[in-house]
Amino acid sequence: MVDYQLITGDETVSRNGAIKLHGPDGFAGMRAAGQLAATILDALVPHVVPGVTTEALDRIVYDMTIAAGAVPATMNYRGYTHSCCISINHVVCHGIPSDRTLKDGDIVNIDVTPLLGGWHGDTSRMYLVGNVPVKAKRLVEVTYECLMRGLEQARPGNRLGDISHAIQSFAEKHRYGVVRDFCGHGLGRLFHDAPEVVHAGKPGTGPELRPGMFFTVEPMINIGRADVKILDDGWTAVTRDRSLSAQFEHSIGITETGCEIFTTSPAGRHSPPYA
Ligand code: MF3
Ligand code: CO
Ligand code: CO
Repeated sequence: MVDYQLITGDETVSRNGAIKLHGPDGFAGMRAAGQLAATILDALVPHVVPGVTTEALDRIVYDMTIAAGAVPATMNYRGYTHSCCISINHVVCHGIPSDRTLKDGDIVNIDVTPLLGGWHGDTSRMYLVGNVPVKAKRLVEVTYECLMRGLEQARPGNRLGDISHAIQSFAEKHRYGVVRDFCGHGLGRLFHDAPEVVHAGKPGTGPELRPGMFFTVEPMINIGRADVKILDDGWTAVTRDRSLSAQFEHSIGITETGCEIFTTSPAGRHSPPYA
């Protein structure tokens, strides 16, 4: 049984398993948080170059977040101590910023989640460092298209499985692996909430999409097999076969006719190259 809960604005919102349905105030809050998140990703473009440390990029995210009157939702989240996740090459997600430097040819995901005015804007993009081999660039392009094909299915009356299927079928047409161990998620006043948004599945299955639902779609696509493992730091997820992995993430709200993407790039830097 799927449970939906109307949010009016006065109630305390908790992880009770229900899918929340929001009104105009929620859309306004998510739009502001999402646009801040996307602005931060836009601003990182000139900084993602060979020789930069991922710590330095994290610092830019922190400074921009605080300057906007927001806080990084990842900070102190389940023991995580940074403002973003930076996942390089075969790192699938949750890469921890460190003194490691980016190298020519790396592909990098940066995932930010400012909490602004009580609402979460969660988005990530891939960046190409210097000259990237064509095989890696193709992975990045296909992963972006996976996300956008998924979002084309985001409208009332469709089901979550329609989004999952659009992503999986396009990825597998390219013989890529779709990661099963991490999902998109409901969000809003909460960072991670119902529903779970899986990136592989059957059309016509899963919860029905209704106006006012907020969730992320964030496919992780591997050149090789789908399997991942977590490193000893307890966070960093890598492909078991060490193949390259890419990810893009948007936060969306279901409208009467389709969806609003809260995290579109104000600068038009949707996918690389960003020049
Ligand atoms: N931003 C990630 C997501 O898309 C979550 C990161 S949680 C962290 O859901 F603790 F690893 F930062
Ligand atoms: Co997310
Ligand atoms: Co994210």
